[in-house]
Amino acid sequence: MSAPVPPAIHASIVASIDAYLARVVAQLDAPANLAQAMSYALLQGGKRLRPALVLLSCQAVGGRDEQALPAAAAIEMIHAFSLVHDDLPAMDDDDLRRGQPTCHIKFGEAMAILAGDALATLPYLHVARSVADAEVRCRLIDELSAATMAMIAGQTLDTLGGFADDLTSIQRLESIHHAKTGALIRGACRLGAISGGASARQLEALSTYGESIGLLFQVVDDILDVTQSAEHLGKRVNKDEAAGKLTYPSILGLEESQQLADRLCRQGIEAVEPFGESAQTLIELCRYMAVRTK
Ligand code: IPE
Ligand code: IPE
Ligand code: MG
Ligand code: MG
Ligand code: MG
Repeated sequence: MSAPVPPAIHASIVASIDAYLARVVAQLDAPANLAQAMSYALLQGGKRLRPALVLLSCQAVGGRDEQALPAAAAIEMIHAFSLVHDDLPAMDDDDLRRGQPTCHIKFGEAMAILAGDALATLPYLHVARSVADAEVRCRLIDELSAATMAMIAGQTLDTLGGFADDLTSIQRLESIHHAKTGALIRGACRLGAISGGASARQLEALSTYGESIGLLFQVVDDILDVTQSAEHLGKRVNKDEAAGKLTYPSILGLEESQQLADRLCRQGIEAVEPFGESAQTLIELCRYMAVRTK
């Protein structure tokens, strides 16, 4: 079951993503205990932002949802893997996700590591076996792996440091956020564009949109960590400061962080305005992301 649908993502989009993901999981060739942990991490709610971006970007370039669903499922599996591992004791050590016990609390640490491993691998198998056009398939696998590598690089910087020399705090923060969160969100837009047969120019515009909303999304995630309750968010709050994380509110303060979110929102909208009517939902989604409270 999914989380309440953000107003800009139509319920029908989320329903088709959920049904598709449930079919992929039902066809899994895996031990029952592993399949159960994977289903728990993948099918127990979530806003489905990344797969929705894949479908909406595909629509923006005139493609059909059927063309985009394999990549949409793939990026959501990568996202689920990133969350399972992000919550592990060695990482953020969280016990609550989407209002439920985290995967390692529910199934134990070894199974959470393995379920994450499987959710990091299945996307490639799925795309390799379900996208008929060889060139599109190859480009999707390239995008997926590049975005995943960037996410892992960002998680490394966020958790263990390892920055290039001479970066200011803001530059460090930007490099973490662009990578740990921005890469999958930008990647989702690119995957959708490629699935829908985008021109080079359309791909570039959707990349720019994705880059803006990717950073916007994590700036707002950091704001929510200090302004919302665990009950509302479905995950623990006030964790970033306690863990000594670099966040926008800790460096810029809340007001400037929100101003930055608004600026990024405008940048995202400008990037896709040339698409006209076909990008209307992407524009609404961008606006929603600057004001979301969960
Ligand atoms: C949470 O992502 C992790 C971040 C990158 C900030 P979401 O807020 O999209 O998580 P779900 O999928 O809706 O639970
Ligand atoms: C998570 O960032 C980013 C990834 C999982 C790649 P956070 O650690 O801020 O996400 P939450 O707040 O736990 O959802
Ligand atoms: Mg984290
Ligand atoms: Mg975390
Ligand atoms: Mg967070």
